[in-house]
Amino acid sequence: MKRLNSQLQDDGAPMELILLLRTLLAGCKEISFRVSQGALAGVLGSTLSENVQGETQKKLDVISNQILKDILSESGYVKAISSEEEDDVVGCNPNGNYLVSFDPLDGSSNTDINSLIGTIFSITHAPQWMEPDDPSAFLQPGTQIVAAGYVLYGPSTMLALTTGKGTHLYTLDKTHGGFLLTTANVKVPVQTSEYSINASNQRHWLGSTQEYIADLLAGSEGPRGKDFNMRWVAAMVGDIHRVLCRGGIFLYPFDNREPEKAGKLRLLYEANPMAFLIEQAGGLADTGAGRIMEVMPEAIHQRVPVILGSKEEVEACLAYK
Ligand code: F6P
Ligand code: MN
Repeated sequence: MKRLNSQLQDDGAPMELILLLRTLLAGCKEISFRVSQGALAGVLGSTLSENVQGETQKKLDVISNQILKDILSESGYVKAISSEEEDDVVGCNPNGNYLVSFDPLDGSSNTDINSLIGTIFSITHAPQWMEPDDPSAFLQPGTQIVAAGYVLYGPSTMLALTTGKGTHLYTLDKTHGGFLLTTANVKVPVQTSEYSINASNQRHWLGSTQEYIADLLAGSEGPRGKDFNMRWVAAMVGDIHRVLCRGGIFLYPFDNREPEKAGKLRLLYEANPMAFLIEQAGGLADTGAGRIMEVMPEAIHQRVPVILGSKEEVEACLAYK
């Protein structure tokens, strides 16, 4: 099977980006190991602190963040990082050529039930003019991303990665520690009859979302004329992996609980990397008011509504106004 390195070379990735990705993925392999230790290593459960988003930090959130922060800071390739678990941008090497944004452990409430979790990341060039701790350089639209992906810590540890030349899926071979290409150029089926949304928020949704979901629920007796199935992993990384593998539509839409926050998922290290992967696999990724990757960020922890997945189903959803 083809190795990650040779696929990246075939896709024309610059050597420094390949080295950065390999460094980042070395950190993810360590996270994979620590996650798999579970209760044996005393890493389950919560800390006593909250992150800047007001979410209780799990021990594994903190451990995963530290692993990635250390390995990226020491690599030399990175000028600065922004992380879900860091209030502010963290400056690294002033001469580094890249910026990395990451959610070190997405879906971390799943750690205590031994369910799907993962690391999500995106990489852009670091502007020459920026100081390492300057957050403004991170405020670039997703169209500037040069590489994005996630590592899913499931029954297998898998990597979904794009450098803008399609989305490829790799599986970690733990016997030798390499990521091997297991699906090249994955394509999200254009049609689907599977959707993914946290329905407990229904009363907070916009009218258009209410109507769209009501029509899916009406099934073959409703205007869509077919039955739909529903899945919710409660870890974006798990839900998006399913959408990449067999299609579907995933929504974390605008809701009116805290209108100024716009949605739940964070643009830089959740919505944008997933949007890039999905678009490179032939799907669509929208906020409901335009392409996710064209949103100009105003803050590093900014949230956006997310509607993404199978092309024709996302189009059907967006037709509800
Ligand atoms: O990181 C945020 C996140 O945990 C996502 O991974 C997931 O899709 C979502 O929140 C789950 O939200 P809820 O708690 O509403 O099910
Ligand atoms: Mn997350």
